[in-house]
Amino acid sequence: MSAYNQLLEATIDHVQRLKAQGVSHLAVTPAKLAALSAATPPTPALPKAASIPIAAPVVGLSKSAALAALRARVMPCISCAHLASSRTQVVFGVGNPEAELMFVGEAPGADEDEQGEPFVGKAGQLLTRIIQTMGLTRDQVYIANILKCRPDTPGQTAGNRKPTPAEMDACRPYLMEQIQIIQPRALVALGATAVEGLLGKTEGITKLRGHWREFAGIPMMPTFHPAYLLRNQALSEKRKVWEDMLAVMERLGMSISAKQRGFFLRE
Ligand code: URA
Ligand code: URA
Repeated sequence: MSAYNQLLEATIDHVQRLKAQGVSHLAVTPAKLAALSAATPPTPALPKAASIPIAAPVVGLSKSAALAALRARVMPCISCAHLASSRTQVVFGVGNPEAELMFVGEAPGADEDEQGEPFVGKAGQLLTRIIQTMGLTRDQVYIANILKCRPDTPGQTAGNRKPTPAEMDACRPYLMEQIQIIQPRALVALGATAVEGLLGKTEGITKLRGHWREFAGIPMMPTFHPAYLLRNQALSEKRKVWEDMLAVMERLGMSISAKQRGFFLRE
């Protein structure tokens, strides 16, 4: 209930109790009468923000609390009605709210839709191995997608569909907020669609990969999607992604061993 309605109910309550006690008249100044008749309920306030006792001011929310609050807003999203009705669940993102490195993929696939976590299927397992080869764990970085819902594939029993521009426009603000909360020192865009979702249509991923871009003021490295590496097992392609990850590690000031430098040069 709004503060206005609470006050109104309390006032009516009070006046009725006075009446029951035999009070037939109340002294009200003309100014108060005028103010009463002019009063209109305020437009509904931001949901309960003012009435919930919170320990820290909103601006002081930890990254973890801010992400949790964002998550609570995203999970019931119905901006894309067709995806809201076809999905099992929204796939928000996973990892460390304090991460220095954030990976951005395209959209959940069937496995992710089922488990509620990004990059847990075959391509995800390869991404996990890439992260580990960098000397990190999934818990140290943050992983999210452009789309939080699995693109529906009506009439198909298998396979994935690329997100539409309208779907990416609807969902991009959530990713923007995730990035603004986490403030990673570097982003990795996985594949052409992720780059398109972040920067709009530019060049093909073959030209883009390996070259730093910027998104929301944060350095962004485009690279191939791990699903591409599963389709094309050539050592040369693995090495390209690995060189992109070496560039990211250098940018973050991570130490790089000679062994790490040499991965995927030859078998
Ligand atoms: N080291 C970390 O612990 N996290 C990152 O995201 C990157 C480097
Ligand atoms: N591919 C993606 O782009 N994202 C996922 O979460 C899984 C597969």
